[in-house]
Amino acid sequence: AKIKEVEFVKSSNRPKDCPKDDRPEFAMLGRSNVGKSSLINALVRKKEVALTSKKPGKTQLINHFLVNRSWYIVDLPGYGFANAPEAARMDWSAFTKGYFLNRETLVSVLLLVDASVPPQKIDLDCANWLGRNNIPMTLVFTKCDKMKGGKAKRPDENIRNFQQLIRENYKRHPPWIMTSSMTGLGRDELLLHLSQLRNY
Ligand code: GTP
Ligand code: MG
Repeated sequence: AKIKEVEFVKSSNRPKDCPKDDRPEFAMLGRSNVGKSSLINALVRKKEVALTSKKPGKTQLINHFLVNRSWYIVDLPGYGFANAPEAARMDWSAFTKGYFLNRETLVSVLLLVDASVPPQKIDLDCANWLGRNNIPMTLVFTKCDKMKGGKAKRPDENIRNFQQLIRENYKRHPPWIMTSSMTGLGRDELLLHLSQLRNY
């Protein structure tokens, strides 16, 4: 599962503009600021292959990265960011139909969920939608390095609660991985998981 090469291929603003070939791909889905672009950089061990920001709404297009000339990792704009300028806001209803339901080369969605906060309705809705539509999904919990003090819950507790809350929408519980782009936690495990999914 070694990464030798990663190449930015293109940015698309509509699903129909995405690269047309049959290489398998994985899409990063999740709330704005959850760490999608950061995780891509952590996976490929490059600082700014995918652009990141403290402010939500950084990624605004569908960005295809080709890994080892054999599979794609796709960075997507985040959802749930109400203050984005009109132009930067994705029409998620059109996008989901055009991409998640029709992209034949999509092996699995990586649904990123912030483990440092309790389960959020918008993430649960998203996970349930994927489950009900039988779209293959891997739950990737991010920011597991963050331990909030005081009464705030710990990552493992937030993760347990999230899984409990989506249970009934899945015939089989989706695979899940704890990660941190800061410490590298989960990187090797995730890469191995992706290679297993590709070789099915
Ligand atoms: P959009 O492009 O707006 O949808 O956001 P994104 O999901 O791509 O988030 P991005 O990777 O740009 O990261 C957002 C912020 O979270 C940045 O300030 C990152 O440094 C921070 N961040 C990302 N991953 C981690 C992590 O694992 N741990 C911690 N502590 N911070 C993280
Ligand atoms: Mg981003």
